[in-house]
Amino acid sequence: MDSTKTAKLPSVRITDLTKKYEERICVDKLNIEIMPGEIYSLLGENGAGKTTTINMLTTLIKPTSGSFYLSNFDGLKDREKIKGVFGVVSQDVAIYQELTAFENLYFLGQMYGIKKQELYNRITKLLQDANLLNRANDLVGNFSGGMQRKLTIAMAMLNKPKILFMDEPTVGLDPKSRRQIWQTLKQLQESGITILLTTHYLDEAQALSNRIGIIREGKLIVEGNIDYLRDKIHAVSNIMLKFIDHNNLEKFKKLFQDSSILKLSPVKHDEIQDSVMIKTPKNISLDEFFNILYKLLADNNISYSYFSVLEPNLEDIFIAITELENP
Ligand SMILES: Nc1ncnc2c1ncn2[C@@H]1O[C@H](COP(=O)(O)OP(=O)(O)OP(=O)(O)O)[C@@H](O)[C@H]1O
Ligand SMILES: [Mg+2]
Repeated sequence: MDSTKTAKLPSVRITDLTKKYEERICVDKLNIEIMPGEIYSLLGENGAGKTTTINMLTTLIKPTSGSFYLSNFDGLKDREKIKGVFGVVSQDVAIYQELTAFENLYFLGQMYGIKKQELYNRITKLLQDANLLNRANDLVGNFSGGMQRKLTIAMAMLNKPKILFMDEPTVGLDPKSRRQIWQTLKQLQESGITILLTTHYLDEAQALSNRIGIIREGKLIVEGNIDYLRDKIHAVSNIMLKFIDHNNLEKFKKLFQDSSILKLSPVKHDEIQDSVMIKTPKNISLDEFFNILYKLLADNNISYSYFSVLEPNLEDIFIAITELENP
């Protein structure tokens, strides 16, 4: 078999995936491909269809139409085989509070039919990776939220899945625990696991993912890496210019107003700092805008001491996309 060829096939391939409950379309012709080792974040507001999508991919519910493949197994035809390919961390923590961390993993491993010695080895390694080895024999009910979440990830990894689905993996966790989970996800990615996660946290998607898809009312409205999303929404970038003195600021203000293109961009002056904050206009690209701005400064001998682009974070992008879709 040509391994270079197989390596390029997507781990997750979703085609026109749709879920209807009576007349309500909850997931609407979703198309997503995720490559091996990629972290893909599905972002969306409450009720957007994230959990319904994960539930279809993990065979909990049947799609109304469309298809999906996980590591080349047909999600509709190979429903039994496919279960060996993925692990899932669901929106609600699904662990037995009255058992220890070890017991939770042990009973799950028995359900998978993993042999005793192998099971011990895997549990030790997973607890070690999760920094929980010294808490192996403590009741899970006494664990913190972050520790419980780490244990659920360990449980999802017990069957050595190639793909991990995670529905809001850090919801309700404090900032430190969230970052620990991020680190765990990064380590899993380095070991070659493909991850599809859902989140409301824009900073999380930004920090973790290779690509982000934004879903609204069951439809994927935009998809790409963070740079692509920024580019698409360049209008929300801010440019900060600080002039060497007030005189240069005044010269700039006058020229800016006279320029047919630049006068369209919203600008805020700071008379004390001798600086301006310019919002890039919607009608031209960021590059074109830079060129016009640089030329204006150079042609008129305007001196500035500082020039920087404040890039939008995902929150800005999310709001801008929502506005674009609802003008
Ligand atoms: N069993 C069901 N019967 C009817 N409607 C359902 C059912 N399950 C989900 N829905 C509807 O599907 C839509 C999407 O729900 P889903 O749980 O997938 O959203 P979500 O993006 O995961 O939201 P959240 O961020 O709140 O978790 C919602 O309108 C919801 O009411
Ligand atoms: Mg959900």
